[in-house]
Formats: sequence, structure tokens, C-alpha cells
Amino acid sequence: MRKLICLIACLAGYAHAADLERGQQLYAQLCFVCHGPNLEGGKGPALKDDYWHHGSSPEAILEIINKGVPGSEMIGYEAVFPEADRLAVRDYILSQQEGLREVMRSVYPKEFFQDTTQKLTLDQFTNVESDSQRLLPENVYYMDRGVDGVLRGHSKLYIREGGEYQFNISKIGRTTVYVNGEEVHYSNQSNKADGQYNKKIQLEPGIHEVDILHDEPRKHSYRLHGRLRHNKSGKQFALNGRSLQGNVPKIIKATPTAQIIRKWIKDIPPRSLLCLLPNQVIVAYNPVDGQIAKAWHTAEVNQTPSLPDRSANPSQINGEEVTNPPATGIDSQLVQLLHYEISGTDAVIVSKLDGIEKTVTISPQGDNSYSVTVQ
Ligand code: HEC
Repeated sequence: MRKLICLIACLAGYAHAADLERGQQLYAQLCFVCHGPNLEGGKGPALKDDYWHHGSSPEAILEIINKGVPGSEMIGYEAVFPEADRLAVRDYILSQQEGLREVMRSVYPKEFFQDTTQKLTLDQFTNVESDSQRLLPENVYYMDRGVDGVLRGHSKLYIREGGEYQFNISKIGRTTVYVNGEEVHYSNQSNKADGQYNKKIQLEPGIHEVDILHDEPRKHSYRLHGRLRHNKSGKQFALNGRSLQGNVPKIIKATPTAQIIRKWIKDIPPRSLLCLLPNQVIVAYNPVDGQIAKAWHTAEVNQTPSLPDRSANPSQINGEEVTNPPATGIDSQLVQLLHYEISGTDAVIVSKLDGIEKTVTISPQGDNSYSVTVQ
């Protein structure tokens, strides 16, 4: 059994403790303004969640640090720092990872696995060509729409906290899971009799290999649903999820004309209109009471701030709060929103204030502010 592949402190031989310290130092100096003090993201994406647009492998992360992403604020650091420093930052990022990474999804034709009472095992796949192979940026397993096949998934599993772990997998179809080459889970909906089991496993901190084989009896169905649970802390890592394809880019930026959008933003009244002005100022106008709820400058909207449970989480505004944001001065009892529109660089909102139709116009002013008129 290849139980422990490597400890965090020597991530696959990439880094020593001293390098990680140097990496953390450099991260705190260079990267945290955009990627957040704890890699949780901000202006730039989170560097420890389940979504890696440019790949989650050590090589892919180094490539981005070296070359940057052309056309974005992510510059390349190749010419700025010596290689040892770039490796140290990369290894510091790797040391913060948890859950599945480098998720490779291969889909195999179903006809080779027709006996659904049989256990799926890795050796059955050696003589069959897969229909497709793809490294998923989501780092959770999903099938494309309408695909009818058998899943074979291979991924790295990053564990930060050692101890007893156990898979929790819904019994739909048949599923076999291997960790570091050892079979640890087998469930089969259509064969209740043969020894199905779900082993408790001891995992050391470090990187482990996970293989998942999964098939479902019905055509075009794919409902692998599972998690890996750390028994002591209760922490869970998702094995499956949804594709984010189509959700990229995730940032709404200022354009030469104003924009008005509605997004769920934490701590802002739910029906607020977000007015994105061309000078990167965002004004949240509450159409229920006619007040400015909040305003930001140097701002943009991040629609997918937290990807593991992205559908449930509100969008976020990245930016600086405008101090003393200009107010509308509206003090009407009854504010009814009629409609809103864009007029060049201005956001125009028409409401009935105590029965009288009024127009609120929000216009950009200077680099960091806005003006508001009510007529
Ligand atoms: C000025 C802001 C800024 C700074 C500073 C910055 N980044 Fe980025 N970074 C970004 C943005 C924006 C992106 C997203 C680029 C894109 O995909 O369009 C990004 C993307 C990345 C990615 C790819 C993430 C993925 O999902 O694949 C990595 C890795 C990364 N940055 C690492 C770093 C490191 C390490 C540093 C410090 C040495 C750093 N960045 C400094 C803004 C920044």
C-alpha cells in the first residue's frame, strides 16, 4: 500500500520548510492584495478553492506565476524574481490546498461494462479505449449533458489534517473507490448480496491518489453523489459538483456606458439596483426607500466569489467603500419603482414618490465618486 506519498513540508519533493516560509513572505508582500490574505480571493481568484481556471497542478500554477495571464491584472513574475522565489511562492500555495486537485475525467463506452451486477475494478479498464479524457478545472466530478458512459476519475487528494477519513457515497448505480491503489469503497445498487463496504481509512497529511469508477443503470443519468469526511473534525470534501463552464468570466467590470444590474450582495437590501458607472464607481440604490445603500470606488462585481458552494453564495463587490456617499435626500413615505434605464454614462431610475413621478440620475464624478440628482 502506497499510503503516504508525501508530507506537506516536503510536497512531492518540491519544498523545504524554509522555502515555505520564504514563499509565505513573498505571498504576503506581492500576492495578497489581489488574492486575499488567506488565499480566499479578492480582485484575483481564490487560490485554494475548487476552481482552477488555468489548472491546479504544480506545473500549471508555476506557469501562471512565471508568465501571468495576458490581458488581466495577473502579471508574469519570471523577470521580476529568481526561480527559487517563484518556486517558493508556488509551494506555499500548494501547501494550502485541500480536497481533490488535478481531476482527470475519462468516459468509457457503456457496452464494455454491461453486467451491472459486477464490481467495477481498475483492471477492467486496461483493454478499453476511453471516448474522452479531460482535466476538469472544477476539481469535482461531473458529466457533460447527455453523456452516456462509465466514469473513470483520477485525482490527487490534498490532506492537511491527518486522521481517520471515510467516503460517504449515495448508492446509485455502482461505485468503486481506490485510495493510493487500495480499494476502500464499493457499493452496488443492483447487487445487494456481494460484499459491499465502506472502509474507514487513515490518511496522513500530504498528497494521495484517488481513483473513482462509477456507472449507472439508466441511460444518460449521472448522479454520483459523494463526499469524503474527516471523522474527527467533520470537515467534508465534495467528490461531485456542477460544471462552471459558461460562468467564466466571473467578473463584471465598468464599461464606457453605465450599467444597472441586480445581484444578491451580502448586507445590501435584496432588491437593490447596482449602478456600475464608467469611472468604476458602483452605487447600490435601494428602490424600496429611495436611499443609497452603499457605494464603492475602484470596484467590480465578482459573481462567483466562493466556488465550492457557488450556487448558494451571494455575489461580491471588490472595491473600496466611498466615504460619505452622496445621498438622494428622498424622505417620502411611499417609494414605488417604475423603471430604470441607461443614459450614456448615467444610471436613470424613475419612481413614484408619494404618488409623484420623479427621476433619480446617478452620474460619475471624478475618479472615485458620483453625483445624484432627483427631478
Ligand atoms: C494586481 C492583482 C494581482 C496580483 C498582485 C497577483 N495576481 Fe494572480 N491573478 C490576478 C487575476 C485578476 C487573476 C485571474 C486572471 C484570469 O484568469 O483572467 C489571477 C490569477 C492567478 C492564478 C491562476 C488562478 C486559477 O484559477 O487558475 C494564480 C496561480 C495566481 N494568480 C497567482 C498569483 C501569485 C502567486 C501572485 C503573487 C506573486 C499573484 N498571483 C499576484 C490578479 C493578481
